[in-house]
Amino acid sequence: MSGKEGEVVCVTGGSGYIGSWLVRLLLDRGYTVRATVEDLKDEKATKHLEALEGAELRLRLFQMDLLDYDSIVAAVNGASGIFHLASPVIVHQVHGPEKELLAPAIKGTKNVLRAAKELGVRRVVVTSSVSAITPCHNWPADVVKDENCWTDVDYCIKKGLWYPVSKTLAEKAAWEFAQEKGLDVVVVNPGTVMGPILPPVLNASMLMILSLLQGCTEVYEDAFMGSVHVKDVALAHILVYENTSASGRHLCVEAISHYGDFAAKVAELYPEYNVPRLPKDTQPGLLRTKNASKKLMDLGLQFIPMDQIIKDSVESLKSKGFIS
Ligand SMILES: NC(=O)c1ccc[n+]([C@@H]2O[C@H](COP(=O)([O-])OP(=O)(O)OC[C@H]3O[C@@H](n4cnc5c(N)ncnc54)[C@H](OP(=O)(O)O)[C@@H]3O)[C@@H](O)[C@H]2O)c1
Repeated sequence: MSGKEGEVVCVTGGSGYIGSWLVRLLLDRGYTVRATVEDLKDEKATKHLEALEGAELRLRLFQMDLLDYDSIVAAVNGASGIFHLASPVIVHQVHGPEKELLAPAIKGTKNVLRAAKELGVRRVVVTSSVSAITPCHNWPADVVKDENCWTDVDYCIKKGLWYPVSKTLAEKAAWEFAQEKGLDVVVVNPGTVMGPILPPVLNASMLMILSLLQGCTEVYEDAFMGSVHVKDVALAHILVYENTSASGRHLCVEAISHYGDFAAKVAELYPEYNVPRLPKDTQPGLLRTKNASKKLMDLGLQFIPMDQIIKDSVESLKSKGFIS
């Protein structure tokens, strides 16, 4: 345990796939954690958190709705830092984008930051996404994409890609608030997050690898920029929180790669499944690189490689009974 005993932090979306890992690592480091769930009576959101080591003494759960400011204040009150992960992750079949995605993502982020400012929170780590980085079209073809690249929101609206719209506008709202009100905000932009599952339910990114193992041929042309281990994403949040020198956006991928690279590796490691052969260059024009997340590497993060991400994901899907 490191010397964080007594420091109180709040994790919004603590019940989720990434949130659960973050709560676990924070408890391991000695933090006292206030984690939010949408429904305290939902055991699928609470039981795996209550079972974590250290939870009995140092974890408290709060029912929070991103559109209910008072519920946010109750969860945040007394915390010196916030990790803001809560946001709906709906990639397909969005029927009412404003209500389902945009309002909770954008207004929710503003509500969390407003509460942080009013309650004197020291630093807020906002979980954005590579979906706020790509798809972008005004980027030089010969330059590797980095934190300066922003998603083309008009293109996404035209194509009905509401999830990237929600993440991009939420992140922009966070930066605007930070600048106007003088709040210390840092952002993590994870790629497609995979690895061991703590909650009993599947999230959208683990559903993606499950579908691939089941033979799905969908190519995530606009959504995929690289994979990243869920544990590394949780660690990245802690690193940017603890390092006062960390600032701005932090792309969080083990490498920039194509979805075709990922599918080919899954097929190689697990030939017993029906993984489709996809074209290698599934994201035409996307330049590959190993050092995409240099800012996080400079903070000490050594990314778990793609082979291990895939192995940990498939073994977890098997042990949880999602695939045999
Ligand atoms: N998974 C990825 O590949 C990936 C990649 C980049 C960025 N991200 C971002 O990382 C964050 C967590 O994603 P995840 O994959 O862990 O998703 P997840 O498992 O679906 O978790 C989402 C969390 O947000 C909470 N939430 C959703 N809508 C809410 C609302 N209206 N009010 C209060 N809480 C709400 C959920 O609470 P309940 O569980 O209680 O319903 C849950 O804790 C999100 O911001 C997502 O955009 C994810």
